[in-house]
Formats: sequence, structure tokens, C-alpha cells
Amino acid sequence: MTISEAAQRIRAGDVVAFPTETVYGLGANALDANAVEKIFAVKGRPKTSPLIVHVSSIEMAQGVVADWPALADELAARWWPGPLSLVLPKRTIVPDVVTAGLPTVGVRVPANPTALALIREAGVPIAAPSANLFTGLSATTAAHVRQAFGDRVAVLDGGPCTVGIESTVVAIQGDKLKLLRPGMISLGEIEKVAAREGVPHPAPGMHERHYSPRTRLIVLADPGSLPEGRGAWLWREHSLVALTPTQTVVHVPSVLDIPSVLQIRMPIEPNDYAAKLYSTLHDLDRQKLDWIAVEAPPTQPEWAAILDRLTRASDKV
Ligand code: TXA
Ligand code: MG
Repeated sequence: MTISEAAQRIRAGDVVAFPTETVYGLGANALDANAVEKIFAVKGRPKTSPLIVHVSSIEMAQGVVADWPALADELAARWWPGPLSLVLPKRTIVPDVVTAGLPTVGVRVPANPTALALIREAGVPIAAPSANLFTGLSATTAAHVRQAFGDRVAVLDGGPCTVGIESTVVAIQGDKLKLLRPGMISLGEIEKVAAREGVPHPAPGMHERHYSPRTRLIVLADPGSLPEGRGAWLWREHSLVALTPTQTVVHVPSVLDIPSVLQIRMPIEPNDYAAKLYSTLHDLDRQKLDWIAVEAPPTQPEWAAILDRLTRASDKV
């Protein structure tokens, strides 16, 4: 499917999967309630979970939000196009089905040339959740989308997603903000631009179990506690060397000679790790393993989004 064909389908009120820099989205015209209803139906998503609206410019964002405070300008100037969604009061032009009845709407400009061209050519903002079945693993390639939806959804193929994890979501209230979902733009980086406010803000759609492979997933600090059976152990590269960049001695896996355990070496750098995470889990999920065990990521803030996704994907042990 070409960008023009995808844009035509969006204008006609159909659902189209398209690439962004974070994950693939399942898109429809955000201003057409019937089109947006189709997203919920095909994804099996509860109507209580609001969608993010994708736009190609700040001006287009201002067309869907009722209030654009200075803080929104500062954050957009710093990170758009990019993996940051801003939750702001919505205009009435945005149907309630998009926002799960909330008075606010999440909006972002994706940093992906195919996505931007699609939005521009469609000429309308595109509401899109991640292009996976409800609670399933997010898609970071067109093939992942096809695995989940088969022929039911047309896919615009833009290659693999470079960020690999869903956007950071922050709610803005005047000159205050609140982190609703961690992403690869960390709260620490955002706080350099704006102070955080602790006031409660509704965060629907943040289900405890989410982003999950079908295979049982566990997060472990120590491969010495791997369960019985055939599984995969994902560890970060640095586990194999004795020293980290900070010269701390780290744990070296001791069970790597267990033949029934696939050993997957993940990158040491969080951005590289995030970019590979979902595709690694998709691949393992096809191998009918008993479990996937993931080495617990570091506790530093730049790993917060990865830890969040792994925790939501995991079976608690
Ligand atoms: O990177 C991303 O954000 C991807 C790509 C496709 O852009 N999209 C994505 O959408 O992850 P989705 O639907 O899987 O997650 C959207 C989440 C909701 O579950 C909710 O947590 C939050 O964003 N959200 C959206 N609108 C909101 C609102 N008005 N108030 C509070 N939270 C909102
Ligand atoms: Mg999702």
C-alpha cells in the first residue's frame, strides 16, 4: 500500500496501520467517530482507554486541543516531532470515543517520515493506539501487525520502528505537568524543561497486565533462579564483562551452559535495548517456550520505561 492509498483509506473512514518511530499505530480519522469506533472493534480494546491523536504540526495540534499553554510550546519545541504525547483539554470537534469520554486529548507529532507524509496527505489528525490486539505485544514491524490482524487491517510498511517503545505521556495543566506513562524521553529530561506537579490526574488505559507475549514472562535479577523447562534468558551485554562503565563489578550469569535455555544477548545501552525489545519478544513467542526470563534492567531513570513495559508484560513470581 502506498502513502496515497493509505491516506485515501483514512479519508474514507477506514482503519490503516502505519509506522511511527515508537511502535506501529492502528489509525483512523480522529474527527470521525464511526471510523474511530472501528479501531476499538478490530483491536478488542475497551472504550475506557483513550487514544493518542497524531498530527503533523503544532498548528494541527492546536486544532484538536482547546488550550495550548506556554509549557506545551516549550515541550513541543524541544521534542516534536518525537516520542512525547501531551494530554491537554480537548476541543469539541474531537469525538468522545477518541478520549474515552475524558475532557482531555493526548496529541503528538511522530518523528517518522512515512507517518508525517500520511497525516499531511490525509489532511486530518489520525487517532491511533498501538497496532496490536488488546494487552498483546506492540508491533514494531509491519510483519508484527500482519501476525496480529491478518487481512483485517491494511498495513503501510515503513520498516522497523527506531525507538521501539510507546511514547512518554504527560498531562499538562497550566504550568504544571504529570507523567502518565514513562517512555524513552525520561521524566528527568522533561523536568529540566518543566517542573513536575504531584496532583492526581486520570490515567485510564494503564492496565497492570499489558504489552504481553503469550509465553510466560518473568523478570529476574539472577539466572540462578530460572524455572524448570525450556526457556530463554535475556541478559544485557555487560553481564558478560566484569566491569560496567562506572567500574562496578556486575553479576556474570552462571547457568549459561544449560542446554534447554536459549541465551539472548541484549544491548547494554537503553535506547538500543528498547529498539530491540518487542521484536525479540515477538520472535521468542513463536518458539513455544515454557517461559522467557529477562534480567532485571538497571534502576537508573533511563531504564524506567523498559522496566515499566517488562513489569506489565510479566507474570508475577
Ligand atoms: O507511541 C505511542 O504513543 C503509540 C504510537 C502509535 O503513537 N501509541 C500508543 O497508543 O501507545 P496506546 O493507545 O497504545 O496508548 C495510549 C495511552 C492510553 O492507554 C493512556 O494511557 C494514554 O495514552 N492517554 C491517551 N489519552 C489520554 C488522556 N486523554 N488522558 C490520560 N491518558 C491518556
Ligand atoms: Mg498500546
